[in-house]
Amino acid sequence: MIPIAKPLIEDREIEEVVKVLRSGFIAQGPKVAEFERKFAEYVGVKHAVATSSGTTALHTALLAAGVKAGDEVITTPFTFVATSNSALYVGAKPVFVDIDPKTYNIDPKKIEEAITDKTKAIMPVHLYGQPADMDTICEIADYHDLVVIEDAAQAHGAVYNDKRTGSIGNAGCFSFYPTKNMTTGEGGMITTNSNEIAEAARMFRAHGESERYTHVVLGYNFRMTDIAAAIGIVQLKKLDTLNVKRIKNAIYLTEHIKNIDGIEPPYAPENVRHVFHQYTIRVDSSKRDDMIKFLNDKGVGTGIHYPKPVYAQKLYKDLGITASCPEAEKAASEVISIPVHPSVSPEDLEKIVAALEKASKTIL
Ligand SMILES: Cc1ncc(COP(=O)(O)O)c(C=O)c1O
Repeated sequence: MIPIAKPLIEDREIEEVVKVLRSGFIAQGPKVAEFERKFAEYVGVKHAVATSSGTTALHTALLAAGVKAGDEVITTPFTFVATSNSALYVGAKPVFVDIDPKTYNIDPKKIEEAITDKTKAIMPVHLYGQPADMDTICEIADYHDLVVIEDAAQAHGAVYNDKRTGSIGNAGCFSFYPTKNMTTGEGGMITTNSNEIAEAARMFRAHGESERYTHVVLGYNFRMTDIAAAIGIVQLKKLDTLNVKRIKNAIYLTEHIKNIDGIEPPYAPENVRHVFHQYTIRVDSSKRDDMIKFLNDKGVGTGIHYPKPVYAQKLYKDLGITASCPEAEKAASEVISIPVHPSVSPEDLEKIVAALEKASKTIL
């Protein structure tokens, strides 16, 4: 089976982890500081603050940006649940705005009608590695005096109009979960040009400590370990090369899929560098289950990102948080992710395309 995701851990990562283990510094220490410095430089921001996961990065960024109970946070329902859960953690209410059906990202044309006097922040997600329409989002945010927190959990190295994701809003949040374009096992990072957000984020991730044993706000233990940071430093060096492999695989797939009946390949506007965390096609919703079974039987791994909009999850229903986003609902019933990661070989690509061609003839 060609898996839908595969972390690429090689000897260098293992050697660096062993060095850390032998050094005695295994919690947050010099390696975390080095990883933060290098990640900030890569993204093109003044500060990077490492955390224990992408989820804790989002939670910490919202706290640091001053989002609190009673506030509303505008976001997309077509994402992993962590995005809007982070608003819930700080007591804010997620307000869901529908997606653009071509890019799967939040539709900026629909944001203004969702703004109320309680709105404090907009959290766009760069879904599948494709940057959201940040110019329009930031213009709206400026006009209404809102904070923009980019959920860049799937978009390491993606570019929007010459700027890397994570450097465009007031803050960006990354995940280093093993399926992501780079990994630390578990881990996250907040990127920002704001001295205030960076300073507050450093406090919130470490028990609200302003200096040793002086606790000024209710913080958490969201720290990254030096063990994870050692993996991250090596992975960051490889990120561009790994992304190029993803992009090349995606180009091959689109080139061969675009003429297959019944399958819609992904779309990327000219002004972005889509880094293909996922390569996601669309098929008729009534055929999706059969398509997935067919592909799996042929040895092609698949994923559904995501099977329902976040507001359709039980948690959100129980909280009384509702929305109606027909494009997100349609996408949720039609999408299938297929393997695009750097370990997908040319032979794998041929096998994937052959399986799709056959599926189109027999199912679609
Ligand atoms: C869009 C999005 N946001 C947030 C997260 C949360 O990241 P993590 O799993 O590292 O907590 C993820 C990753 O799973 C994600 O895909």
